[in-house]
Amino acid sequence: MSEAYDLAFRESVQDPEQFWAKAAQAIDWVSPPARAYAPDTGWFPGGTLNTCDNCLDRHVAAGRGEAPALIYDSPATGTIRTYSYTQLLEQTGRVAAMLAALGVGQGDRVIIYMPMIPETVFAMLACARLGAIHSVVFGGFAPLELAKRIDDATPKVLLTASCGIEGARTIAYKPMVDEALQLAHHQIERVVVCQRDTLRAAIDGPKELDWETLRAATAGDPVPAPVPVASSDPLYILYTSGTTGTPKGVVRENGGHAVALAWSMKNIYGIGEGATFWAASDVGWVVGHSYIVYAPLLVGATTVLFEGKPVGTPDAGTFWRTIARHGVKTFFTAPTAIRAIRKEDPDATFLAEIGTGKCEAVFLAGERADPATIGWLEEKSGLPVIDHWWQTELGWPAIASCFALGDLRRKRGSAGFPVPGFAFAVLDESGQPVEPGHSGAVVIREPLAPGAFRTLWNNHAGYAKNFATFEGWYETGDAGFIDDEGFVHIMGRTDDIINVAGHRLSTGQMEQIVAGIEGVAECAVIGADDAIKGMVPIAFVVPRTGFDADAAFEKRVIAAVRAELGAVAALKTAYIATGLPKTRSGKILRNLLRKIVNGEQWVTPPTIDDPAVPAALQALVGVREA
Ligand code: COA
Ligand code: AMP
Repeated sequence: MSEAYDLAFRESVQDPEQFWAKAAQAIDWVSPPARAYAPDTGWFPGGTLNTCDNCLDRHVAAGRGEAPALIYDSPATGTIRTYSYTQLLEQTGRVAAMLAALGVGQGDRVIIYMPMIPETVFAMLACARLGAIHSVVFGGFAPLELAKRIDDATPKVLLTASCGIEGARTIAYKPMVDEALQLAHHQIERVVVCQRDTLRAAIDGPKELDWETLRAATAGDPVPAPVPVASSDPLYILYTSGTTGTPKGVVRENGGHAVALAWSMKNIYGIGEGATFWAASDVGWVVGHSYIVYAPLLVGATTVLFEGKPVGTPDAGTFWRTIARHGVKTFFTAPTAIRAIRKEDPDATFLAEIGTGKCEAVFLAGERADPATIGWLEEKSGLPVIDHWWQTELGWPAIASCFALGDLRRKRGSAGFPVPGFAFAVLDESGQPVEPGHSGAVVIREPLAPGAFRTLWNNHAGYAKNFATFEGWYETGDAGFIDDEGFVHIMGRTDDIINVAGHRLSTGQMEQIVAGIEGVAECAVIGADDAIKGMVPIAFVVPRTGFDADAAFEKRVIAAVRAELGAVAALKTAYIATGLPKTRSGKILRNLLRKIVNGEQWVTPPTIDDPAVPAALQALVGVREA
């Protein structure tokens, strides 16, 4: 129990305006907000600010220009480079000048399809400086997914790099961009390519520009001043998987985002000036946006941009080495990364040898942290390992143990307690709260805390759907329960979203791809348990009558999902089945499929249309497993 946490939580729900008005003082406003909240305009109405100014300029102006801002640590290329606040501001200013020369201004969209290199951070901050809206697209997505985002965001400019380095593999980005631009309907004005020595790209199209050439050509241009934007103006759009094939463009507003992230650094993670924070994620995900780029810089701390994997770059000691080398105080990763390390180094010999330096706590998120993984890491590291929960939609953690408020209560399997600002409930199908310990839909009271989304790009109706099922509540899409001590347990999704190695994917979208393959009559994709990745997608495919579903057919199914969705969405298996288990009304019994592939006990549901199907599927899966 922590008094500071209790007090903060109580204040945040009893008088949110006052609570957040106080938190807003951590931000430099060009014009301060008239009040903390108004239903029509959201958080901090009337306030204007610039997020880049808050991340960089103000720290330099305060005399902290020499303090380290960004450490680029790339075991993938053998590079370690530190940028002070002054240097990061200079670099960002140059990219802002490049973008300004291309006509990018306030409200324009810029797609950033780039790997984990400093230029990606410069680009994000440069957009923020200009009041332009960036949309970073994760490199593991295929050209078609990039094209969908281009068509939805209608950007003026696309920034990319010649390649990404993923473990031992070099991934050429430029051909993917070329293909995406062919697939997209929207015409981008300019594509700027940052060349990397590992693999250079041909830059020859009429719209294409070389990053360095553009930088040199604009070297004499003044650094654009930070553009004051309204608190409610978008800072970025980040697309995430919804339940359809169309990604949802979560819109993040400048004001609420800055205030919430600054609050979280101080009160959840215990990070401020002089401390080093490392979120081992990718800038393509929300964790990367919030906790690699914006939050550490907003509070004047040092952030680590790590271009590597938990294993293989070069070994399972790389996380501990990075933590120790840079004096990381708080570390954040996904459970899947810890499982990958544990598999390679079960006795934690690297950890014993290298230690964890100045690290005080490890935070996990992205998927449910299984108790065994937490237990292993706590035992081997001696550090508190804190599971916490959040979503792209929210932008920062909503369930956690607020470590920096002195709340160290943890229960393995639970993501912790509601973070100040978020009032949770668990509701049954009729919208009534369930008893403690009983499962239901996990919901959060409206209005959501600062930083959380207030619309989806081009799709306000899609946003409103999240509030339609339970009046006055945001439906998280997760199922779970709150136990009698108040710990919140998140047990899984209520929709078709799965988490594969901490990556959020939609099985519905995969089904749409599989259903479109020649010869497929019907299909179902489900998430099966996986010892390392948490979940992996598996397809059951019923070929059309008379279609010759030979061995190559299964490969075609797997290849189609990878080609259309991306490498991170590789189906583990595609079972060619004679039928799917369905109710008499035609609903596919996905839970039954999950139990069959997970080797769990199952019974034939009384509502099933054809009782012979489950046994046939069990035999199919059994043959493969044997
Ligand atoms: N750009 C291009 N391709 C990418 C990519 C990127 N940014 N990230 C992943 N990929 C590719 C990989 O190269 C791999 O391709 P392959 O099938 O041709 O080998 C594929 O996508 C799957 O990648 P991944 O799911 O990462 O699996 P992996 O086997 O390469 O690594 C782990 C497994 C567990 C080590 C890795 O998934 C990991 O570090 N996970 C933690 C993720 C994380 O931190 N998520 C945080 C979200 S909060
Ligand atoms: P994303 O939007 O990619 O961050 O994914 C959000 C989803 O990941 C949530 O809705 C959960 O289903 C899942 N998730 C994230 N963190 C956790 C956690 N700590 N425990 C359980 N599920 C989590």
